[in-house]
Amino acid sequence: MRNKIVAGNWKMNLLKEEAQSLTAELIGMIKDEVSRPVNVILFPPFLYINALIQQCNVESRIQIGAQNCSNNSSGAFTGEVAAPMLASLGCKYVLVGHSERRSYYGENNRSCASKIDIALHHNISPIYCIEETLKERESNIHFTVIQKQLEEGIFHLSKEKFSNCILAYEPVWAIGTGKTASPDQAQEIHHFIRKAIEKKYGSDVAANTTLLYGGSCNDQNAKELFNLPDVDGGLIGGASLKSRSFMNIIKSMP
Ligand code: 13P
Repeated sequence: MRNKIVAGNWKMNLLKEEAQSLTAELIGMIKDEVSRPVNVILFPPFLYINALIQQCNVESRIQIGAQNCSNNSSGAFTGEVAAPMLASLGCKYVLVGHSERRSYYGENNRSCASKIDIALHHNISPIYCIEETLKERESNIHFTVIQKQLEEGIFHLSKEKFSNCILAYEPVWAIGTGKTASPDQAQEIHHFIRKAIEKKYGSDVAANTTLLYGGSCNDQNAKELFNLPDVDGGLIGGASLKSRSFMNIIKSMP
């Protein structure tokens, strides 16, 4: 059985008190409203990771991750944050290759591959984001784009290492646009990704890999998306910034 996950990517939002209140509200709501084991990961800005890890000590169903890490482990890289620093805080997850990192900060499959290596080396599970643009989808090359992101960004890993990774499909045209992939589109591409994993690593690994959907996922559409056979949860942006909407998404997990 693969892990089902609902993750909240806060991006560059919330001041310290807001981040702590949102976390406190989520801890309370999970306790009161959710009796099952669920896996929730919050991705706050770096600055709040330490405090939120302490705050979430009381609720094992909420983990804290980082939105990025350096592809170096230490040294003269002003402004960067290294995976071993995150590990020293007790951080267990890191997003790699989010489309905003790829389009605004020049990240590519190769830099993602080294971030994934360094994260794994420090026992941090990468959530590798793969995605196509609207133009790529309209030109019908989205499968090729995704295949290339897999091959260049993560398929260099051994089977054992790959088993510690999570993937997130986040079509660029759906991020922050209010346009969600239709259930058919989401299932089609998630199935394609799982098949590619199967071809590379075998059916056991493919069956056990968690594949998240991201892109305008909200409390209205989450249930339908999370019920798709190859969708194992979501990576939520805007709708993770309000406790009620994020909790409703968490509760949409079958
Ligand atoms: P939205 O949910 O705001 O579309 O953002 C998705 C996303 O980028 C999550 O990483």
